[in-house]
Amino acid sequence: MTTSPTTIDWWKSAVVYQVYPRSFADSNADGIGDVRGIIDHLDHLVTLGVDALWISPWYPSPMADGGYDVSDYCDINPDFGTLADADALVARAHELGLRVIIDLVPNHSSQEHPWFKKALAAAPSSPERNRYIFRDGRGKNGELPPNNWPSVFGSGAWERIIEPDGTPGQWYLHFFDVSQPDWNWENSDVIEEFDRVLRFWFDRGVDGFRIDVANAMVKESGLPDLPEGGEEFGELVGDSPMWDQPGLAAIQRRWRAIADEYADTPEGPRMFVAEAYLPHDRLVRYLESDRLHTSFNFEFLISAWKASSLRTTITESLAAHESVGASATWVLGNHDNFRPVSRYGKEISGLDFSDPSAPHARFHGTPTDVALGRRRARAAVMLELALPGSAYIYQGEELGLPEVEDLPEETLQDPTWKRSGHTDRGRDGCRVPMPWSGSDAPYGWSTNTKTWLPMPSSWAEWTVESEHNDSSSFLALYRTLLAERHINPALGAGTMSWNESSDEVLDFSREPGFRCIVNFGTKDVTVDAELVIASSTPLETRGGRVSVGRDQAVWLRT
Ligand code: GLC
Ligand code: CA
Repeated sequence: MTTSPTTIDWWKSAVVYQVYPRSFADSNADGIGDVRGIIDHLDHLVTLGVDALWISPWYPSPMADGGYDVSDYCDINPDFGTLADADALVARAHELGLRVIIDLVPNHSSQEHPWFKKALAAAPSSPERNRYIFRDGRGKNGELPPNNWPSVFGSGAWERIIEPDGTPGQWYLHFFDVSQPDWNWENSDVIEEFDRVLRFWFDRGVDGFRIDVANAMVKESGLPDLPEGGEEFGELVGDSPMWDQPGLAAIQRRWRAIADEYADTPEGPRMFVAEAYLPHDRLVRYLESDRLHTSFNFEFLISAWKASSLRTTITESLAAHESVGASATWVLGNHDNFRPVSRYGKEISGLDFSDPSAPHARFHGTPTDVALGRRRARAAVMLELALPGSAYIYQGEELGLPEVEDLPEETLQDPTWKRSGHTDRGRDGCRVPMPWSGSDAPYGWSTNTKTWLPMPSSWAEWTVESEHNDSSSFLALYRTLLAERHINPALGAGTMSWNESSDEVLDFSREPGFRCIVNFGTKDVTVDAELVIASSTPLETRGGRVSVGRDQAVWLRT
């Protein structure tokens, strides 16, 4: 590492940029984003001012679930490049002072993984089958699934196989697509294999892992049925035999020990960030000091654009994280969620954990007030980046890209579309390739006009190039805020305190000398114009005072 962040606990305050490799940039004109494309555009991340990048899965995969169906954990998808490209990316990112986090998908593999193929070819109860979760079916001839668990992507979580002798046989468990069989985390081959995977990438210089569905890997033993009516999403919130089992702690401790083995290397100890859609109190158990470092805080992401619910989320997040001595994270979007600009322009702008099924279905097709959504999304990022802890930015958020809600049905690729019986359009609308430059699709993303998802003809205004030249753009705002984060000692990790304000206003201070105000109400808040560091949209000045209006945010020095 030649530049910051050089501190050991960099993850406590880092701003991490999520790259969805398939959609970031296509360097070789095949219509698919790739690793070279990322390397070629690292300067964008540097100018933006982030500290790290997290790359969604880049492994060999049949791409049944955008690469979250891994067939080889220790190689690069040939469509994306080679291991040498990956090494070059890590090296170049480090030269530029950027940390690199990659994605670990430990709950399930692809059905194309050699161990799953071996399992299919082997006999019931064989060691090969035992690496996954195979069971005999219920019913007279085993024709019914072993239990009533649902798949997150719709329908049941079990698939019956044809045994090598040609007869219908056992069933295997898949929390997600049928092409994503769940690993058996009680099997020592599986445990040791993932140790090897971690070391393989840590040895190549990778700074950390994002752990995919970190709350899923261990299932309650005996695989008991969900209570009647609990099948909606596997009862994600309460005590569910599918999610958040006590056995996860041992795996997390084991992985933490491996990450800590790297303490004396030039990059320092390695880190984990967990993906787990859980309420705070459950989530922070994963962050006890001998377990994981950080976790995405989805309660913030799913909160409606309302002062009261955001205030509660923020207060509870910070208290919960503090109770285990961990640093909070803040997230507004990712490759699974409706883009903030579109979400905040909808009448219902939030979700909640008691209704987490099909989050996209909830938003799709409902009217959007685009101007309102944009105004709020600008205020939202000012809130996000002012809070104590680290923050995540999903590619395109810095351009204010909207969700693409009108992708032609025949182009949809998310397995949710098919598994929901064509009722939930799924997540493709936030995965459309990034517009870089020029006035026509594919906007410098590729030289091939056939991109893996079509790009809207209306995006000329939202390219990096066009926003670079516009001081009122999202990009200009993000750059301003991130630059301030680097120089202002009050920002990043640390504490905050609420200031007295109306219920419709979020107003808090951070030391030394920083204050953030977000106004959700109709009554303006006025402050001294001289104190303003940044505002989400231009402010009206009168007699040395500025008015912060509805859906506006300001950063102030105090
Ligand atoms: C995570 C990923 C999502 C994927 C799922 C199954 O939620 O973010 O994209 O479909 O896990 O791996
Ligand atoms: Ca390519």
